[in-house]
Amino acid sequence: MNIVANPVTEANQTVYLKDYQKPSFLVDTVDLNIQVYADYTKVSSILSMQRQTAGDLVLLGRDLELQSIKINGVALDAAEYQLDSEQICIKNAPDIAKVEIEVIIHPESNTMLEGLYQAGDLFVTQNEPEGFRKITYYPDRPDVLSVFTTRVEADKKYPVLLANGNLLETGEVGAERHFAIWEDPTHKPSYLFACVIGDLAVLKDHYVTSEGRNVALEIYAIEKDIPKCQIAMNALKHSMRWDEEHYGRPYDLDNYMIVAVSQFNMGAMENKGLNIFNTSCVLADEEYTTDAAIMRVQSVIAHEYFHNWTGNRITCRDWFQLCLKEGLTVYRDQSFSEDLQSAAVQRIDDVEVLKAHQFPEDSGPLSHPPRPDHFVEINNFYTATVYEKGAEINRMMATLLGKEKFRQGTDEYFRRHDGQAVTVEDWISSLSAGSGVDLSAFLNWYNQPGTPKLTAHGEYDASTQRYRLSLEQSLKAHAKYPNLKDLPIPVALALFNPKTGEQYTLNCAALIENGVKDGVYLLDQQSAVIEFSGLSEQPVVSLLRNFSAPVNLEFNYSDAELAFLLQHETNGFNQWQATQTLLERILLEDHPAQIYIDAIKQTMPNVIAQDPLLASRLFDVASEGYLASRIDQDYQPEVVHEKREALLNALATALGEFCKETYLSLDVAAQADFSQAMGVRALKNIMLSLMARQGDHQVFDLAHTQYQDSSNMSERVGALKVLVWNDAPQAEQALQDFYHRYSDEALALDQWFMIQAAHPKATAERIAYLTSHADYDLGTPNRIRSVSGGLNANPINMWSFGVAHFIDLAKYLDEKNPIVGARLLQQLSRWYSLAEPQRSQTQSALQALHAQVKSKNVVETLNSMLAV
Ligand code: BES
Ligand code: ZN
Repeated sequence: MNIVANPVTEANQTVYLKDYQKPSFLVDTVDLNIQVYADYTKVSSILSMQRQTAGDLVLLGRDLELQSIKINGVALDAAEYQLDSEQICIKNAPDIAKVEIEVIIHPESNTMLEGLYQAGDLFVTQNEPEGFRKITYYPDRPDVLSVFTTRVEADKKYPVLLANGNLLETGEVGAERHFAIWEDPTHKPSYLFACVIGDLAVLKDHYVTSEGRNVALEIYAIEKDIPKCQIAMNALKHSMRWDEEHYGRPYDLDNYMIVAVSQFNMGAMENKGLNIFNTSCVLADEEYTTDAAIMRVQSVIAHEYFHNWTGNRITCRDWFQLCLKEGLTVYRDQSFSEDLQSAAVQRIDDVEVLKAHQFPEDSGPLSHPPRPDHFVEINNFYTATVYEKGAEINRMMATLLGKEKFRQGTDEYFRRHDGQAVTVEDWISSLSAGSGVDLSAFLNWYNQPGTPKLTAHGEYDASTQRYRLSLEQSLKAHAKYPNLKDLPIPVALALFNPKTGEQYTLNCAALIENGVKDGVYLLDQQSAVIEFSGLSEQPVVSLLRNFSAPVNLEFNYSDAELAFLLQHETNGFNQWQATQTLLERILLEDHPAQIYIDAIKQTMPNVIAQDPLLASRLFDVASEGYLASRIDQDYQPEVVHEKREALLNALATALGEFCKETYLSLDVAAQADFSQAMGVRALKNIMLSLMARQGDHQVFDLAHTQYQDSSNMSERVGALKVLVWNDAPQAEQALQDFYHRYSDEALALDQWFMIQAAHPKATAERIAYLTSHADYDLGTPNRIRSVSGGLNANPINMWSFGVAHFIDLAKYLDEKNPIVGARLLQQLSRWYSLAEPQRSQTQSALQALHAQVKSKNVVETLNSMLAV
């Protein structure tokens, strides 16, 4: 069969939201037959299609070997359709068309991990967003929903044959092969199709829904990893209960399966009833994975489960609406996690991610609205902006509405749109109608880029005991979006009496009644002034409590006021926020550090005693990478590094014996629950690293003992970092021990690679040693990320020899795995902020790369990155 290049799709690769058109044909049912052989896979499909509007019958397909195509039983000859590298187009198709297609595909050589691919001994699918078209010709777009029946056939050496829905039948094909037939009764888009073929063990459980449905729960993994699936199983049951209690959403099938895969581009995927997970997001065990990984597993399990309603039953009309499902589902998984550990700490962790990834993205060349209006490669838009800013928009609306009205709004959304493929407008309309509050102004948040600046200013009049707070929003001009609109910004706030340290009861008519104790003011125009009365002293104001809006706040606090909030703010999040603001002033604006150090010294003993988890976060000092993102030009990695080191050393010196005393007094075993124990472990590791700064070599003995005696991965890794990053005498031996101890544990080995790559004094040679190590594998994204992520932890290294590492990786992955290649490359997107000569050097390296790459993913990313 001759495949001709399509001049239209290749010359004009940009897709625009404004060009959306309904599909001309819908698919009522799909019958798939997937026959896996060692060196090819045959996919036969029967689509029952029905015309909906005028137009051609278009079936999308990529990298497929077409064997035959029939319509209503008659084979088409080449003149009856147009075939190119992207699609089959049939003109004048009958209104009712039974389309039968046979293709050959090659999962055994698919390195892109998209479509059907072989990962070790396992065959799995990844079809979001446009992978299904690599399995067979199909109207592969989210607004085409159909009922899938899937027959999977393979060699008996693969005993597990899975697909979405209910198992209808199994049987043998000759002596060597067998098959299974699955039917998914729900209507779903092709991106939610999945199948799995392999040799896996399974952990089983069950869950009875609020409607009385008994759901079989199954987590598949390689045999030795089954004990590491228990935390995920518990999190799954917890998520199912949580969605019933908080959103009234029970599960709708008789089974829910999760499969753990070690080679996976992303974290996990919500395929209907058959989630596929990166092992890093499902395996959890205190002995093998860190506390942070355990928390992540629980939130990813919840996230993919929550998609069953926000994503699967109600899906996206087109991929521009991606944040409809992702932003809402991230907001839901964040709320779930707030119930798992302390809500304040979860919020701190989430805002840290937002500020470290989304804010820089939105202020640089990759800035885009949460709902973009054009793209070349949709895989490039699974971004912090779509996910994290998308979640913040939903959080703002939830804050404004309060629990009860938000629930009425979501109920209305499910009532109106269950079973449909919808838009962001549909979501906002439902939420408005259900709650009775007009939220249409929030559409502006979805449609325009940039982090707004919120400038606040306070004036106190002692004679009237009144305080006037003026608020003003502004957005930096954006070349591609000239007409930026004012945004609705909920400002949660509290006022404190500086004499007593107590919170004032708010007396202000302008605040919103949302059933919450906090005062919330909605700034829905460019500027406003609000007035508080009955204040006996000039108040200290705490703004954006819980980070009520994703904005950059400018307020002329004195350092003393920030130190006051560090000590007296009762909202744990804002206590952390005040600390971070103070630190930014010290590290970026050369304010004196003493006031911070004194406040920490004074406050921490109490906080440690009351809430070790929160205490561990209050010791946060913004990373060099985050600090860099606050600098838009002439950024010198060494300067930021030295300032930050000086501050940490001063803190360590000032804390003196406190670090060791605290270290020795902390008792993991005495903690009431996992989250407090996690806090104690984090604190112990912080104390160790501060002690290492005090130059007391005894710390290495403590660290070494912790390394050896603990069977908990957070403690082991924490101690190993202290040894390795300080070049302790025990470092090499500990690294070797770790390697041998976990030689068969891929996720632990990822830590081994990461810790070495993240050595502050890592060299190009050290990185080369790691990337040429026998356990390094360019086919496993987790392993690649462990080295490049480690390297990225130290901007001095990253922006010197690291640039070549990332460029080489992008060049290689451009062909082998462009999705991951483009994502990794994004980490160089702030090159333009560097001081010379690094700026020009990096720019030249990126330009040289541009001339050598071909994939839409990498080319689009480079085009945006270089357009500054
Ligand atoms: N639907 C996505 C997974 C996905 C994204 C697959 C892009 C293919 C391309 C899934 O629901 C998701 O969002 N996963 C996140 C983790 C989640 C907890 C935010 C991921 O994979 O990083
Ligand atoms: Zn998701």
